[in-house]
Amino acid sequence: MYIGLDLGTSSLKAILIDDAQDVLAEHSVPLSVQRPFDGWSEQDPKTWCDAATLALKALSQNVDCSSVSGIGLSGHMHGATLLGSDDTPLRPCMLWNDTRSHVEAAEMDADPIFRAVTGNIVFPGFTAPKVEWVRRNESDTFKNTRKILLPKDFLRLFLTGEHASEMSDAAGTAWFDTGARDWSDDLLAACSLSRDHMPRLVEGSAPSGTLRPSFASEVGLPRCVVAGGAGDNAAAAIGAGVVEAGSAFLSLGTSGVLFAANSSYRPDPASAVHTFCHAVPATWHQMGVILAATDALEWLSRLTGQSAAELTRNLGHLTAPGKTLFLPYLGGERTPHNDAAIRGQFLHLDHATNAKEAARAVLQGVSFAFADCKEALAQTGTSLTRALALGGGAKSEHWLHMLATTLDMTLDVPKAGDFGAALGAARLGMMASTGAGAEIATQPPLSSSIDPDPSLAAAMAEGHDRYKRAYQVLKDL
Ligand code: XUL
Repeated sequence: MYIGLDLGTSSLKAILIDDAQDVLAEHSVPLSVQRPFDGWSEQDPKTWCDAATLALKALSQNVDCSSVSGIGLSGHMHGATLLGSDDTPLRPCMLWNDTRSHVEAAEMDADPIFRAVTGNIVFPGFTAPKVEWVRRNESDTFKNTRKILLPKDFLRLFLTGEHASEMSDAAGTAWFDTGARDWSDDLLAACSLSRDHMPRLVEGSAPSGTLRPSFASEVGLPRCVVAGGAGDNAAAAIGAGVVEAGSAFLSLGTSGVLFAANSSYRPDPASAVHTFCHAVPATWHQMGVILAATDALEWLSRLTGQSAAELTRNLGHLTAPGKTLFLPYLGGERTPHNDAAIRGQFLHLDHATNAKEAARAVLQGVSFAFADCKEALAQTGTSLTRALALGGGAKSEHWLHMLATTLDMTLDVPKAGDFGAALGAARLGMMASTGAGAEIATQPPLSSSIDPDPSLAAAMAEGHDRYKRAYQVLKDL
């Protein structure tokens, strides 16, 4: 048996699978995000440990876990968890969608060495500029920092006592040589840091440590191996069998991701596409990332007092985009704009605009943002014609039809419940404990494939063009 732990932004999810990879049990624990100031997004790392303890106990109370031999970890990427000499967090973790360090990011990005070595723009959400913000604004915290860990790696420290990370998540720090799969001493030095501040590295499918004996007995598990694991997107790809070059997924989570697997390192920072290591050795991936996918719908839900499910129910057949236009840049945007200052927009509201029309515009706006990612990937030479549809938002069939038509690509919908990154993490746990490789990361059986509606192609293209022009007009206002 194997366990996958996925530290998501809004919940921590644990799943238990058997040797045939059938899911035997799952448990989720909600997590909250604190946004004390505009652009800030933080979490208390202790809540991750408490959630993991609760979730693992829940699994072992439901099913006999005595034959668990491997655990894999997945987590939201880029977070900066700064630890003092006793391994205690010195401040809340600054998350992937925290854009306060846009000045620091722009300064780093202007130094050509960062793009050359990492293969990526230095986005404000990445780890290095956030730590630079701490150095400039909370100098005592920076001085007392002994180790800097990514979120799931802090969870690993709690589970195993080991300071370790793996290639897929490390590639999102801006301190990493993505082609060489190693920390860059030059980039660390440019940030007044050294390799001593970093955890050691393993591949995602390799062992990184074993459960601490006292923790194992507290949660009712044997002292099993903990795999390197992966950042949540690479983990979701392992869960969905997206490893072979040419395969892809579109994820409708809090953030939105259009992910393409590659067999070689293919950086193109100018396109605002992310190029990271994959979770199995000698593989890489590219992705377009939008900061608010279901998050945009959640925002509308808070505004209207209707749940996301209520808002997306009864939207009827897909129609051409209406005049009401929504730009989902609630906390800035990564692909294709790298613009931390832009904010969301609602355009062309009239007396008849009700919650339903607003919901339709939000779904359409997020779909246009994904179409921007598809164009950005195409600019790097990665042209996609189909992808698996993953994430909580993929439960809305209406949204999937809209996305397929807006992006002009077929979306394959997996049959079983969406175990995404947690399943990928469990598979990495299985690889670390058995020595298996990427061959166990098979694609899920499909319940349906959603094709674009050609009768709406011209209207979607026109709508996308209007969306792109709206950003150009509004960005400096
Ligand atoms: C990827 C990214 C997000 C987070 C949260 O670059 O920032 O997808 O990993 O899910």
